[in-house]
Amino acid sequence: MTRHKGLLDWVKQVEELCLPDNVHWCDGSQEEYDATVKMMVDSGLATPLNPQKRPNSYLFFSDPSDVARVENRTYIASRTKDEAGPTNNWIDPDHLKKTMTGLYEGCMRGRTLYVIPFSMGPIGSNIAKIGVELTDSPYVVANMHIMTRVGTKVLEVLGEDGEFVPCLHSVGKPLAPGESDNGQWPCAPLEDKYISHFPEERAIWSYGSGYGGNALLGKKCLALRIASVLARDEGWLAEHMLILKMTNPAGRSHYIAAAFPSACGKTNLAMLVPTIPDWKVEVIGDDIAWMKFGDDGRLYAINPEAGFFGVAPGTSMDSNPSAMASVRKNAIFTNVALTEDKDVWWEDIGYDPPGKLIDWTGREWVQDKSDKSQKPAAHPNARFTAPASQCPVIADEWEDPKGVPISAFLFGGRRPRTIPLVHQARDWNHGVFMGSIVGSEITAAALDLEAGTVRRDPFAMLPFCGYHMGDYLRHWIELGKKSSPDKLPEIFVVNWFRKTRDGKWLWPGFGENSRVLAWIFERCEGTADARETAIGWMPTLDAVSRPDSVTEEDMAKLMEVDREGWLAEIKDIRDNLYPTFGDRLPKELEDQLVMIEERLAD
Ligand code: OXD
Ligand code: MN
Repeated sequence: MTRHKGLLDWVKQVEELCLPDNVHWCDGSQEEYDATVKMMVDSGLATPLNPQKRPNSYLFFSDPSDVARVENRTYIASRTKDEAGPTNNWIDPDHLKKTMTGLYEGCMRGRTLYVIPFSMGPIGSNIAKIGVELTDSPYVVANMHIMTRVGTKVLEVLGEDGEFVPCLHSVGKPLAPGESDNGQWPCAPLEDKYISHFPEERAIWSYGSGYGGNALLGKKCLALRIASVLARDEGWLAEHMLILKMTNPAGRSHYIAAAFPSACGKTNLAMLVPTIPDWKVEVIGDDIAWMKFGDDGRLYAINPEAGFFGVAPGTSMDSNPSAMASVRKNAIFTNVALTEDKDVWWEDIGYDPPGKLIDWTGREWVQDKSDKSQKPAAHPNARFTAPASQCPVIADEWEDPKGVPISAFLFGGRRPRTIPLVHQARDWNHGVFMGSIVGSEITAAALDLEAGTVRRDPFAMLPFCGYHMGDYLRHWIELGKKSSPDKLPEIFVVNWFRKTRDGKWLWPGFGENSRVLAWIFERCEGTADARETAIGWMPTLDAVSRPDSVTEEDMAKLMEVDREGWLAEIKDIRDNLYPTFGDRLPKELEDQLVMIEERLAD
């Protein structure tokens, strides 16, 4: 166990408050994983999958009220509302603690309290951080085993007085004597769910949900919301970014970190299979990057996670063969459908269901392609949890404690118009501007070219920043002053999602995105051709190789500077986005608007 007094005292306090039947200290072993899962199989919560098809893999169905992150129940309880900023939900921390303490009273009756010591990042890395999650959910224990580094080794690093982020979690469903879950996913009603962050204390309290980011507290809660506060205070970056390694035919490599709002294909990009011969892409991480300056003035990134918690629907041998290979064994599936031979199926897995299914609500489901209103068999936010080590394209250095030096940052979103296939910032502040205006267009079923509004998600961090977004943008501006321009990553915007007026994709995406990455790679090397435009550097006409499926005319469209579109973009940013940050908006970003406007007028 441990001789860490702070940890022992806290566990005791929680035990006295939540009144679990038992306390279990997790050691992170395979035996522990197997025993935890077996218990859930016995209580009807987990279905073991066909060992011939998916060895050591399990399926869970959650409660229909507990299927995704609950942003309207997610709180940043800083001392003042102003510190949380206008884009976060705020409650006074004392008030919130009182409410939640009431909910926690006796909430673990009939259950086991698990103590999960975990490391975000390779154990002992100077970029890594330790957390301890106390939870009454064995589902959380199993998922944390895959998503983080759990166990005794972490306690050793923690020692007797090391720092850790306390993460308290309960599903909020105590059991009466003799009662069991009986196959029912335990959680509390929506109005009792709280995903709370106390940034000054660096603590997380979560109650009432057992799902994903609400419950696996190392991910969004620690690695982004709390870590973003630490990063601000300590001069580093905690970002909602994938990390990939690209290698050219000559064997030279660059590392690229990329931020896209949720559901823009980050996992697919991180594991992309290049269509251009002899180039290679490998993955370091698919969701989160922590970055610190090295002694050489470059930014070094680690993936704080150890697994992938990916959206299943849409994942197929076409869209992401490496993700498919990663989930072939030792995986957890949540809210996908079950086949008769006990394998999994989901929408757009690449083949029709092989017969009758059990859908994610537990009912029989037979595909009826003539019924356009048929509900999907897998929930749209159904997930797989898989060890990163099982990914066939995981880079050898993915666990290097010193991290990998980042050459480029990419920003993107779903933008059917205006934003070209790729453009590059003129300098750091211009790049920060690009990150600040990230967003996806909300489109109705048919592309409505007049009515499309852009839902902005600066740096893809809006749901994940633990403090005022204006201060977050300031932090990025300041970071650019800490190193020299030739050491800082180059910054790019990419857009795979351009459409024609009648709604057809202009760019094929997936593996073909490697053509754009190759240009970015060569810009980092200083060898690619580029032209200066009003919105930044762009490839010369032939600098990005054209896939067979894209006409010359479409390629020109993808690479044009849409002057009218950009003027509308600037107006939208000035009228609707930037005022959100009030006087915390860095002046440097307002200046960028003026500069781009002037260049567009030339
Ligand atoms: C995620 C998200 O689950 O960004 O990674 O929502
Ligand atoms: Mn994410």
